[in-house]
Parts: sequence; structure tokens; C-alpha cells
Amino acid sequence: MENPIKNKNILLGVTGSIAAYKAVELASQLTKAGSNVDVILTPAAEKLVSPLTFRSVTGKKVFTDADLWDTTSHIAHINLALPADIMLIAPATASTIAKLAHGQADNLLTLTALAIRCPLVVAPAMDTGMYSNAFTQENLEILEKHDITILGPDEGHLASGLSGKGRMLEARVLLGSLRFLLSRENPLAGKKVIVTAGGTQEPLDPVRVLTNHSSGKQGYALAQAALDAGADVTLISAPTSMTPPEGVKTISIQTAEEMHTAMLKEIKQTDAVIMAAAVADFRPTSKKAEKIKKEGKLSEIELEATIDILKELGEWKRSHKPDLVLIGFAAESEKLVENARKKLEQKNLNLIVANDISRNDAGFAVDTNAVTLLFKDGKRQDLPLQDKEAVAQKIIDILIQFMQS
Ligand SMILES: Cc1cc2nc3c(=O)[nH]c(=O)nc-3n(C[C@H](O)[C@H](O)[C@H](O)COP(=O)(O)O)c2cc1C
Repeated sequence: MENPIKNKNILLGVTGSIAAYKAVELASQLTKAGSNVDVILTPAAEKLVSPLTFRSVTGKKVFTDADLWDTTSHIAHINLALPADIMLIAPATASTIAKLAHGQADNLLTLTALAIRCPLVVAPAMDTGMYSNAFTQENLEILEKHDITILGPDEGHLASGLSGKGRMLEARVLLGSLRFLLSRENPLAGKKVIVTAGGTQEPLDPVRVLTNHSSGKQGYALAQAALDAGADVTLISAPTSMTPPEGVKTISIQTAEEMHTAMLKEIKQTDAVIMAAAVADFRPTSKKAEKIKKEGKLSEIELEATIDILKELGEWKRSHKPDLVLIGFAAESEKLVENARKKLEQKNLNLIVANDISRNDAGFAVDTNAVTLLFKDGKRQDLPLQDKEAVAQKIIDILIQFMQS
């Protein structure tokens, strides 16, 4: 599945908040992602940022109140409203929020917001006092009651120099939220998918851990691809530097045991599990309460096996839920296909993604991956070297087929 915002008609309404400059970045990112972005500015927004700035990043005409009363354009607000797949007002001032809550339509933006047939999303931006004001809060409640999605605001530094709640969400977050909202009717809608990611850490003492080189990139790309396909996604993540995609439910864990506990809590309502995490096979038998001293002797670390989560899931699938889809990863440095096929069978998986970690352009910590897919029915498919997002999309396309068969 491609990015759900690609080729979508997105109406971006910009109002008179100082955060209007951030909407330029948003319009730029949306355009780069392949959306068709029509920007509407209120008269107050025009004073803070020029229509030409938006035109320069979207490459398209930008709409202002001049278009509303222009005798050469035919009913601008209806022409903008009808083809829209989603309308986002970002930033949304207290004044525009008040107008929306009461159906007031005295400029091109508020008029278009009344005329749309698509979902409306609002990203407030204002001073903390204005935001907590009882009128603003009541107006936001009215919007929510009418199924208008409110995104943010965030806490943090405000243009006034004060700090508090009122900051507009960053462009990256707003784009991720639109991506999520536009995916909700895709083929995996209503399906619950668990993705695990990252390398678990097994503590030796309060400062040291046993871990591996997993970056979490492939797992996070899988979580995003499953969201794009419409699924409700739970990401059980070991520590990584990655930012979870918007719309995902993230459970942060450190050890294999914590991952196992989180999995048991989630598994009952789940339709598919993709185990992309590099879970420790061994852990220190005991965690020392105090830091092991350099001066002390440490010639050996005693280890014990961790629980094989995927194997346990495979047994549970056999005894309780035969239609549970299980997808595993096998990172191997030798006899790739042979070892991976063994795991596929032993763990009762639908698919195993075999990763040759002896290559330096695939597997751990790099942006690309070259994998071999092995299916339960004996089929094998070798995917060429490609970025981890493309590998993730391919795996989710296969998951969609599993779910539909
Ligand atoms: C420099 C400047 C910054 C402003 N920033 C905000 C803001 O962040 N949020 C807000 O609700 N109003 C803000 N205002 C007030 C609005 O611009 C004003 O209420 C205006 O009428 C809003 O019109 P609009 O919602 O149609 O764009 C600001 C005003 C100025 C002069």
C-alpha cells in the first residue's frame, strides 16, 4: 500500500496565528509526499504570511478572501469543498474555532469549512490563557461533539515568551495524523496487528546491559505500513532512537521478559503478530544490585535462556486461534534459508522473513534490507535490496492477502 496521503486532495486552512509560518512547512511536506494541497488563508493569516510563500511550496494558486468576491471565479468555496478528501485548519485561532463551533461563515475559510463533505481536522494554536478560556474550551467541546478531530495543542514555548499549553503541533506530527486519518478505511480496517521492534536489553547490573545492533528501523517501518493499510497497530518496542508513527499504540519495554508480558496482555484480541524485534536469546541469570566494580574480578557472566515468545505464540495459535497470522524474522549469518525454514516450521509461522546479516547493506542498523520470504506452503520469494519502508510495504501486502484468504 502506498502512503495514504499520496494523490489525496487536502484543503489546508491557515488562520491568523503566529504559528502560520509552521503551516508553510506542513504545506511543503504534504506536497513532497504527493498530496494535492489547496491552501486557504484568512485575512488575518495574510497579514502574517504571504500567499506567495505557500504558492512557492505547493506550486499552486493560493486562495484568499479576494477569491470569494472575485467575479471571474465561480463560487470558490464550493469548488474547493467538493473534491476535498480532508480539510485541516492549522493553525486554528480561538476566533476561527469560535466561528466553526457556531456555524459562522464570514470568510472563504469558514465558508468552505461549512461546505465540505469530508472530515474536518483542527489544530489549535494560541496563548495559554486564550486556550484555557471557558469560551474556547466550550467551543472545542462543540467541535468534538460534531466529530471534528482536534489535534493538540502541545505544551511548550509560546510566541509571547511564556510557556504553557497552546503551541501548534509540529508539521511532522500533523502530517502523520493526516496519514493516519486517511488510512482508516483501507483493507486492514478493524484488524488488530502487533508489531515488535528494536533490540531487547538484558541488565547485568544497574548500568550495563546485554543487547544487539537492532535499530528498530524495520519494525517501525512495518508499524507504519500496517497503519497505512488501515490496521489498529500496537508497537511493542525495545529501546530505539526511532519516533513511533502517529496513530500507533506504543508499549515501551526493555527486556525479553517485559516483551513477553506485554504480548500476553495484547494477544487475545489480535489478528496478526509481526515479530521484527531482535529479542535476546539469553540473559544474565541475575542482575547485580550494585555496579560491578572494575577492580573486582569478572571473568564469566552466567546466562540463562529467555522465553521464546514466537514459539509460544505458535503453540497458542495451534491450540487456540488457528487464524492468527504469525510473521517472524530470522537474522542469520550462515545457512540463511535452511535455518529460517526450520524456524518457520518449529514456530508454526505463516511467513518468515530471512535476513542475511553477513551483508553490510542489509539487516541491522542500515536503511536498506534484502530479504528472502519463506511461506508455510513451501513458496520462496527473494526480494531485491531496497529501503526498509519498501520491504515493510511488501510484507504488509502479503499480510492483506493472508487476511483476505
Ligand atoms: C501577531 C499576532 C499573533 C496572533 N496569534 C494568535 C494566535 O496564535 N492564536 C489566536 O487565537 N489568535 C492570535 N492572534 C489574534 C488573531 O489574529 C485574531 O483573533 C484574528 O481576528 C483571527 O482571525 P482568523 O481566525 O480569521 O484568522 C494574533 C494576532 C496577532 C496580531
